[in-house]
Amino acid sequence: MKKIALLGFGTVGQGVFNILKEKKAELKKRGFDLEVKKILVRNLNKVKDFDPSLFTNDFEDILRDDEIDLAIEMTGDLENSYIYISKLLKAKKDVITSNKSVLSLHFEEFLNLSKENGAKIYFEAAVGGTVPVVREVKALSIFNKIDKIYGILNGTSNYILYNMFENKADYSEVLEKAQELGYAERDPSDDVLGYDMRRKLRILMSIIGGGKITEDEIEVFGLDKITKIDVEYLGENYRVKELALGKFNKNKFVGLVEPALFKKDEDLARLDDANNMVEIYGDYFEKLTLKGKGAGRYPTASAVVCDLIDLLSGNDWEISSGNDLINENKNFKASYYLRTKGDFPKDLIASQEEFKGYKIIRTKEILRSDLIKNIKDEDSFFARIEEND
Ligand SMILES: NC(=O)c1ccc[n+]([C@@H]2O[C@H](COP(=O)([O-])OP(=O)(O)OC[C@H]3O[C@@H](n4cnc5c(N)ncnc54)[C@H](OP(=O)(O)O)[C@@H]3O)[C@@H](O)[C@H]2O)c1
Repeated sequence: MKKIALLGFGTVGQGVFNILKEKKAELKKRGFDLEVKKILVRNLNKVKDFDPSLFTNDFEDILRDDEIDLAIEMTGDLENSYIYISKLLKAKKDVITSNKSVLSLHFEEFLNLSKENGAKIYFEAAVGGTVPVVREVKALSIFNKIDKIYGILNGTSNYILYNMFENKADYSEVLEKAQELGYAERDPSDDVLGYDMRRKLRILMSIIGGGKITEDEIEVFGLDKITKIDVEYLGENYRVKELALGKFNKNKFVGLVEPALFKKDEDLARLDDANNMVEIYGDYFEKLTLKGKGAGRYPTASAVVCDLIDLLSGNDWEISSGNDLINENKNFKASYYLRTKGDFPKDLIASQEEFKGYKIIRTKEILRSDLIKNIKDEDSFFARIEEND
């Protein structure tokens, strides 16, 4: 019997608890005889309806328990989760986490602690929700040269843009709806400004590159400046998606999270609701597309339980590290859609028209840094054009 601990008993924690309870017999039949021995929460009053012997608000109870050698961290608390994960790994206890913030901030340190102490750390749910992108990237990057990863890794941003384009919803109305549905946080900045996706891209790119790529090395532009005018102008033929892009050429990389424009019948353009979708390109496998729910109690809990199964099965592929990687963002070129009231240099413009009091500009293929440098009006919106016909 494997005794495990859960840290956090909220949306994801209760989902994991319920799956392990409901599927106990099936899991046991397949060789996974599991018992949740302790659950860490902050407020014991909130869990009065459950078996009180399971719960503690003292992390040391779990750390000191020699019978527990695996803990699943689902607290979402940035500072304390760092302490919990480090202490668990140092105590040679395996860890699974769904917490992207702590992982992005301390990724290399956790990998080192894991190696030094022979304890594993798994984190699928932190990156793509139920989409098994970490698993694939870890396995594929062992023997493939992955030159591009590309996709939508934040359900809230997709939900907002999907509803703005398909249902002509207003940005603030649809954001409110996303909050009601539990997709977006009360403070939605991390989702709409692209920071959440940047954390996930930083983790994936560091695995692919075999070296450290920090959040700061990924350029980011959110979707919060998009308005109905953009939807009206673009909607007949195009869809806008907040998109993560990681490109590699030997040891050089480009990392971007920004809105991108797709023809409306393309696969990424049609991604609906709060789904996630990732495309990975490499030399042997050519192209892999993964798609699924990016958030929500059971989709996320399902990813956690898959990690648990992988971990207990010994499917442990070491993530390589230590490569020196060179940031090439400053040389990244593309054509952009730009809606602005400000002037823009004529020699960078491929075409321009007036629409509802704005300049709608299609730029030539230009350096992204030149685009950013030349945007004068802070309410401007831009999106990279992902087709060039
Ligand atoms: N929800 C999703 O769809 C989703 C998807 C992917 C990843 N994630 C990630 O999964 C993690 C958990 O998310 P969630 O939505 O389940 O959060 P949540 O519903 O707010 O639940 C958090 C749980 O952790 C407990 N907790 C918070 N701080 C703690 C601390 N310092 N010590 C002990 N317990 C603590 C809370 O206990 P109290 O109630 O007693 O405070 C609560 O039981 C986050 O990192 C989130 O980013 C969530």
